[in-house]
Amino acid sequence: MIKVSNLSKSFHGNLILDDISVDIEKGDVVALIGSSGAGKSTFLRSLNCLEKANKGLLDLEGLKVDFSKITSNERLELRKQTAMVFQQFNLFQHRTALDNVKEGLKVVKKMKDKDATEIAKRQLEQVGLAERAHYYPKHLSGGQQQRVGIARALAMEPKLLLLDEPTSALDPELVGEVLQTIKKTAASGQTMLLVSHEMSFVYEVANKVLFLDKGKIVEEGTPDEVFNHPKSQRAKEFLQNYFRNKSGNL
Ligand SMILES: Nc1ncnc2c1ncn2[C@@H]1O[C@H](COP(=O)(O)OP(=O)(O)OP(=O)(O)O)[C@@H](O)[C@H]1O
Ligand SMILES: [Mg+2]
Repeated sequence: MIKVSNLSKSFHGNLILDDISVDIEKGDVVALIGSSGAGKSTFLRSLNCLEKANKGLLDLEGLKVDFSKITSNERLELRKQTAMVFQQFNLFQHRTALDNVKEGLKVVKKMKDKDATEIAKRQLEQVGLAERAHYYPKHLSGGQQQRVGIARALAMEPKLLLLDEPTSALDPELVGEVLQTIKKTAASGQTMLLVSHEMSFVYEVANKVLFLDKGKIVEEGTPDEVFNHPKSQRAKEFLQNYFRNKSGNL
């Protein structure tokens, strides 16, 4: 069980996340949706300590953290037990795919090179990139780079995998292979919190949807509840706009 309680975050006195509480069960795929600027990335980044939340508690399967007085040891522990996949992949350009996947294992988990190599190879195989292990990012397509990003995250065996719009920097024809990889990861039972603008994908892969508006969760439920029977005016408007622009259905 993962429990976020009363998390708030301000930037320069502006309240960006306002008292957010979320429960995530083991194996859940939770999707966070909402307009640009709603605070989705800030929420993910706060959970991973890339931003410092002003207040809030996290219980990550027993690892309990109070963000208002987090210690450096707790931050390190949290980094070991979570992993993030970024929109812009954020791979080290001067390292091969294999070395990118090994990085966290060696630096954060302090693993021996041999053990890290073994795990990294297995993860690259999982995302279908075994033959690309010795390629540098610039010689990989965007979709392949993002799959390396996913392999890197999974290599950490995170209790919670955070994905922030993992397909939105990709050319349309490369989106499918990354969505497929995420779907496979979800099917393996990996607990994840995913920010996505791909509503049909969210509908398919998530078992719980949170709608964030101006730093507050104003709607939450199953994909069917949130997409087909939204209760709040803001969620209704957001979804109507989305489907009008997409000129389609789920
Ligand atoms: N480092 C920062 N310093 C100041 N303000 C920030 C910082 N990071 C984010 N913000 C502000 O916090 C708000 C929420 O930003 P955030 O990036 O979390 O939104 P988002 O929901 O992820 O949007 P998008 O869908 O465009 O990615 C925005 O108003 C943004 O300008
Ligand atoms: Mg964002």
